[in-house]
Amino acid sequence: MADQRLTVITGAARGIGETTARRFSAGGDKIIIGDVLDDVGAETVAALEAGGGSAAYHNLDVTSEDSVNRFVDQVEKDHGPIDVFINNAGIMQDGSTIEEFPMEDHDRVWDVDYRGVYMCCRAVVPRMKERKRGVIGNVASMFGIQPYPVGAYSPAKTAVIALTEILAAECGPYNVRVNSVSPGYVHTPMMQERFDQGIRSKDVMVRDSALGCMTEMQDVAEGIFFLCSDRAKAITGTNLPVDAGVLVATPYNAYPK
Ligand SMILES: NC(=O)c1ccc[n+]([C@@H]2O[C@H](COP(=O)([O-])OP(=O)(O)OC[C@H]3O[C@@H](n4cnc5c(N)ncnc54)[C@H](O)[C@@H]3O)[C@@H](O)[C@H]2O)c1
Repeated sequence: MADQRLTVITGAARGIGETTARRFSAGGDKIIIGDVLDDVGAETVAALEAGGGSAAYHNLDVTSEDSVNRFVDQVEKDHGPIDVFINNAGIMQDGSTIEEFPMEDHDRVWDVDYRGVYMCCRAVVPRMKERKRGVIGNVASMFGIQPYPVGAYSPAKTAVIALTEILAAECGPYNVRVNSVSPGYVHTPMMQERFDQGIRSKDVMVRDSALGCMTEMQDVAEGIFFLCSDRAKAITGTNLPVDAGVLVATPYNAYPK
């Protein structure tokens, strides 16, 4: 049997990150969760271990360079070299016009969704390059491929996709791969709350997809798992939409007949 990989997932206390942690754990990896939600993160680790996996939680605030560097240091000291690093931590933005969305909220979105990814890559890439081994998976968004009316979030995710390509080219000669996934409308517990409150419409999201369904968290986790596996050993610098076909259906359905 191959050695157990050490997989770090940011923002994996809950949501897509937690589901991804379960997928990688089922695949045999040791999981390190980095998050700001200490209690929830500890519960997620307990659940992974109860299911027969091996996991640990470390506090991580991706908006703080000091926290990021301490986290990566501590993880490698306690658990050994990081094989896979998944930048999943992110915050959302509700649709609004440019004048309605305060600059401090804009900056907060960029701090977590772009600068956080950049700093985590900056901390882990030199270690992976030196070992000539490693995989990075970034969680972008279909909103990063096609601009949607979320003027901070969409461009921040576009920047993540661009960074993925830049780092793939930079790190390829060191046998380090870098890819991203771009989830569409994902059926998370938070999305379900929004459906229940009437803030978002499930019917519209389903209607706007080619496959006539929401994207489930497990679908996103499978995409990340594949890109980070050896089956994808020749794939780097790619961005994989996992969106039930919303991106292809939207212009198709808008075509004037
Ligand atoms: N839910 C969707 O429909 C959707 C669609 C496209 C992309 N995404 C992306 O998927 C990723 C996960 O989203 P989710 O829907 O599971 O959201 P979520 O809010 O359920 O989970 C995000 C996690 O990130 C953590 N986090 C937030 N700020 C952090 C920080 N500063 N440092 C460390 N951790 C932090 C949170 O505590 C939480 O555990 C995000 O990058 C998001 O942009 C989600």
